[in-house]
Amino acid sequence: MHFDILTLFPGMFAGPFGESILKRAQQAGQISVGLHNIRDWASDRHRTADDAPFGGGAGMVMKAAPLAASIRAVRGDPAAVPPPPVILLSPDGEVFSQAIAAELAAEPRLILVCGHYEGLDERVREALVTRELSIGDYVLTGGELAAMVVVDAVARLVPGVIDGASITEESHSDSLLEYPHYTRPAVWEDRPVPAVLTSGHHGEVAKWRRRERLRRTLARRPDLLIRAFAQGLLDTHDLAYLAELGWRRL
Ligand code: ADE
Repeated sequence: MHFDILTLFPGMFAGPFGESILKRAQQAGQISVGLHNIRDWASDRHRTADDAPFGGGAGMVMKAAPLAASIRAVRGDPAAVPPPPVILLSPDGEVFSQAIAAELAAEPRLILVCGHYEGLDERVREALVTRELSIGDYVLTGGELAAMVVVDAVARLVPGVIDGASITEESHSDSLLEYPHYTRPAVWEDRPVPAVLTSGHHGEVAKWRRRERLRRTLARRPDLLIRAFAQGLLDTHDLAYLAELGWRRL
């Protein structure tokens, strides 16, 4: 899977993309990343990519021409090849989720556009952006950190990047939070691990883990339980256990 990232600050990406799983996935050829400096498409001597807003007001706005030229150059001719999604990272976008990450992981290529300053000229949005994503209801200084979050969440779902088993039971993969994890020693500072985990009964371990996922989700994110129920992800055992815990569906 290939990610093209359009940004005014390509240097910001070196750290997160040069370490750990994202680094390994690039070395293994499972993902590749193209970093493109929007300023390279500015036409003037000063490589100007922003300007004051029409109508006045605070801050600067990303100019239409360099940004549009960068998107078009990186995207290629849409008549020749099916164009990849052009995703703008912006606090006004649809809120990013595990479901959206899974959807994007099925694409062969994504173009991520990092907004900056007060935003970008609205006409570029209309003409070239196909989707807008926000990573949460707060405002960052720019879209770069948000693009890193999206690449990280999508890349780990690309087949082979991480062990498939760890994806199927992790938080949010099926609208439930994860069960708690323990490793050696069996007793730490007078705290033993739950006995079932050292019992050797795989069936009991699986049942305990499922119940822990339900219990945690009810305690911390009851909104997710409603979603899991609506998606048909809770069986009769789950519902009986949740009823024991006092869950009353609305
Ligand atoms: N740019 C600024 N804030 C953002 C956010 N919350 N998500 C995505 N891009 C952003």
